[in-house]
Amino acid sequence: MKPIRIALLGCVTVGGGVVKLLRRNAQDYARKLGRPLELAAIADRSLKPDRSLGITRGLITRDSAALVGRPDIDIVVELFGGLEPARSLILKALEAGKDVVTGNKALLAEHGEEIFRGAARRGLAVGFEASVGGGVPIIRTLRQALAGDRQRAVYGIVNGTCNSILTTMTGQGVEFKAALADAQKSGIAEPDPTLDIEGHDAAHKLCLLVSLAFGVLLKPERVYTEGITRVTQSDIAYARELGYAIKLLAIAKEDGGAIEARVHPTMIAAGHLLSGVGGAFNAIYIHGEALGSTMYWGLGAGQMPTATAVMADVLEIARDRIIGASARSHALGLPVEHVRRAHVKPMDDVVCEYYLRFMVRDKPGVLGAIASILGRNGISIASVIQKDRGAEKTVPIIMRTHDTPERNLKRALGQIRRLTVVDANPGFIRIEESL
Ligand code: HSE
Repeated sequence: MKPIRIALLGCVTVGGGVVKLLRRNAQDYARKLGRPLELAAIADRSLKPDRSLGITRGLITRDSAALVGRPDIDIVVELFGGLEPARSLILKALEAGKDVVTGNKALLAEHGEEIFRGAARRGLAVGFEASVGGGVPIIRTLRQALAGDRQRAVYGIVNGTCNSILTTMTGQGVEFKAALADAQKSGIAEPDPTLDIEGHDAAHKLCLLVSLAFGVLLKPERVYTEGITRVTQSDIAYARELGYAIKLLAIAKEDGGAIEARVHPTMIAAGHLLSGVGGAFNAIYIHGEALGSTMYWGLGAGQMPTATAVMADVLEIARDRIIGASARSHALGLPVEHVRRAHVKPMDDVVCEYYLRFMVRDKPGVLGAIASILGRNGISIASVIQKDRGAEKTVPIIMRTHDTPERNLKRALGQIRRLTVVDANPGFIRIEESL
């Protein structure tokens, strides 16, 4: 029986997992499909033959451009990552009539429109289950299982590095730098962790979640993005005192046709399901109009969890190829010509409760001066904590506000910064009460 033939671009971590699954589960896959899957070639410059995985010299090529056009290939699995050459190779593969599977969230967030349109024009598939949540099947869930509902809000813990760092800071009482070093030592954080700790990886993933949840296209530059580098140990301790945990959340909401899309450290109720998501785990919490809330939890990265997501796409696409299904082109769950560009709500109009942290001189009238600036800007205070002075000249004042538009908060903080009795930059963290 003619096999479905796969070309693999990139065979490092996840690619290695894909090869292992293809070997280990070959009989299962053949039974599920009624035809075998065959690894036809691997493009990877530094790959060495490995007999235990059946990687022979003949299977390895350096010429990925030639490989994606080869007539004997059915499905191209792109695991190079990065924008180029991944983008050009995927477009070339589509031109040559291949279905594509990728885990490349940065590429799809930046160039998804071009790629999805290219696939739709030719009735081909782009599978991207591995791009968000690693092994957590969230893409398929949004596209298929939740398709009968209208989604209202998506809250994701979608970056394992940040979640792991915040979990260590919370559990061990250490500052950000020490927790990052710990995560790097254990291989969770990259040697250059910028993309993760500055929130960009989560923003890329949020763009894809928004596309599936709301049927719109969103570019990463439209997502308000703030990482976790400014979260301090004292923020975590005060959060606990106020009944909250701090998580890096990727948040999207639909509000009268406008999309709110933001990634930032967020205080959420300590008893909420998302607060219990620890370490490198991911979770996506979705609020649907008819269904209410559901949560999807699991390992968001790593060789084998992510490889299972790649293989789920390969199997679905292979099955569709075998039966000649034409629905392969609805990568975002709707015909590409019905996908709109997102109308994004400006961050100034986003309404939240806020946690505020000021370091101030311990003098009469200081609390009053801060409170009166907040009041003049229409911001109502929900609670205040002020600690006793000890040996220091400055004391922390912690406030929680009621709901206020971000515009008012920014204006008030600008005025408070100019008070001579306020030291350093005030800290603030958004609180998500409506979760
Ligand atoms: N670097 C990501 C994380 C995994 O820390 O979750 C890949 O998207």
